[in-house]
Amino acid sequence: MAGFARSDSTSEAPDPRPARVVRIRKYESGDAEGLFEAASESIEHVFPWLEWCHPGYRLQQASEWVKRCDSLWKDGREYNFAIVDGSNRILGGCGLNQIRHEHRLANLGYWVRRSEIGRGVATAAVQELTRFAFSETNLIRLEIVVAVANEASQRVANKAGAVREGVLAARLLLHGKPHDAVLYALLRPKRSAHREPNENRSRKETDS
Ligand SMILES: CC(C)(COP(=O)(O)OP(=O)(O)OC[C@H]1O[C@@H](n2cnc3c(N)ncnc32)[C@H](O)[C@@H]1OP(=O)(O)O)[C@@H](O)C(=O)NCCC(=O)NCCS
Repeated sequence: MAGFARSDSTSEAPDPRPARVVRIRKYESGDAEGLFEAASESIEHVFPWLEWCHPGYRLQQASEWVKRCDSLWKDGREYNFAIVDGSNRILGGCGLNQIRHEHRLANLGYWVRRSEIGRGVATAAVQELTRFAFSETNLIRLEIVVAVANEASQRVANKAGAVREGVLAARLLLHGKPHDAVLYALLRPKRSAHREPNENRSRKETDS
């Protein structure tokens, strides 16, 4: 999987931390510890929006997730990626899930570890994930569904070029409570060839 992205050291404000490259890649068998470490430091800012990253999160769950990602990918059900720096250190995660093959539609999600937020990591990852979706799958539409109160995530969706389509009432259930959510969409560029399902090696042969 080609990674890509961008050095985030070129913003106008000086950044005291060393520059590094951000890219996305499939989870690898040795990722459980790095993922666990990244998630463990991030509970405070991720848990309100993504319930899997909770105070009881354990290494075993990270390990199970890494294994599960492989089978989900092979089955064409989800495409999950680690976001990593130039040293292959996990900075967060992103992925395409809730895929509806009949409509060639997927949900796009992301999170970034506490020590790396505010450096453009999520935006770069979303842009790379979008390139993956429109070059390696036949998906036409990617949706980002963000709780109205989650301003950082809305900013990411905007910066990554997603179109704000509106607010959906009670669209997200978080910690047992319904929340209104902003719906963003990224659409396959017109010039980008539509892959036929049997051309796409990353997903199931048939729509369901
Ligand atoms: C949302 C999240 C992924 C952003 O990651 P990140 O790497 O910091 O994102 P970026 O640096 O690319 O961009 C963040 C932007 O949000 C802005 N931002 C951060 N906190 C903000 C806030 N409370 N209100 C408004 N904007 C905010 C930043 O200033 C930045 O915008 P800028 O570049 O114009 O200054 C990260 O905070 C996170 O993991 N949140 C918890 C999980 C989550 O919400 N996932 C999305 C679910 S829909």
